Amino acid sequence: MTSTYVHVNPLLAPADADHMLAIAENLGHFETYADEGTSEGLGESLPQRFDVGLNYVNRGLDGKGCSDEPAVALGRTNYFRETYVYGDEQRVVGIESFAAHPLILQSAKSLSGAAIIVPAIVYANILVPGQELAIHTDVPEFRGLNRKNTPQWLLVCMLHSKLFESWRVPIMTCVAWFGGNAGGAFTFYPGGEAGARHAISADHNTAIVLDTDRFFHGVERVKTPSLKETANEGIAQVGSGATLEYAGQDQWRLHTSEGRRFDYQWADLRYSISWKGYCFVDADSHHKWRQSEDCLNLSNVQEIFEKDLRQRGVHGVAALSPDDYARLLVATYVSFPDESDQT
Ligand SMILES: [Fe+2]
Repeated sequence: MTSTYVHVNPLLAPADADHMLAIAENLGHFETYADEGTSEGLGESLPQRFDVGLNYVNRGLDGKGCSDEPAVALGRTNYFRETYVYGDEQRVVGIESFAAHPLILQSAKSLSGAAIIVPAIVYANILVPGQELAIHTDVPEFRGLNRKNTPQWLLVCMLHSKLFESWRVPIMTCVAWFGGNAGGAFTFYPGGEAGARHAISADHNTAIVLDTDRFFHGVERVKTPSLKETANEGIAQVGSGATLEYAGQDQWRLHTSEGRRFDYQWADLRYSISWKGYCFVDADSHHKWRQSEDCLNLSNVQEIFEKDLRQRGVHGVAALSPDDYARLLVATYVSFPDESDQT
């Protein structure tokens, strides 16, 4: 079987890798990743990634279940994010060695079979001790539809249904780790959801390149050298409004919106930088995307789904409430890895 990912070790020259930490320090302020987009009357009372949340609460990270209270589970997965590069806009100094790394571009090309790669975004994630990232696939894009105009769960259903491949804009992702947290391994299913779960430790200055829209992945629990274990009482309740500030001298300070404060050192945090690039197999598909030709709209999508559901023997979809319609699509098309099936 051809490989579905590339593990890069090391990624950058040592000084450039150290500079990735300095970029976060210089920025100095991280906020939690907030959902965005609009639901256009489809599943409008559901969270954007209710597909991931439901699976996480039911099965936990490893399929063995989640024993946390909902508020704790939420705090575990509400991480910090800032964008470093967006399209042509570079928002931090010194990110070039990462953003234009030839090995990342080359790996994205070879994995996707694309002739043309268009870098789209570079962003940083920071997870604090006790946090982890639920198993998920990323939010894909299609010509005409992306997270700015379409519910995220719907885009995910579209990808997993394989009904919209001719409109899909393939995206390749590189995730690189800096600082070297003791936990926080990147865990993923490189053989697809029916295959085994693998894990790659988040070692300083290493990276993985993978199609994270297609392959399920997550982050194992972040550990800290200063807390023996990440029991509930050791977890910051990272609700909305929490901030993470660099306090100098290797120290980071988390403020919750309830006014609680947690102090960390770099070694306590799991810091990653992600790159995403659009992948076009040829000049024609690149041209269609640039010129917004042959685009989908939401009513096309609903028609295609309804036709497919009828063929599967599911009728009466039009009479469903928006939320029930959303649940039906996720249950029909998104099959999460289930380790209880595996020996
Ligand atoms: Fe992801």
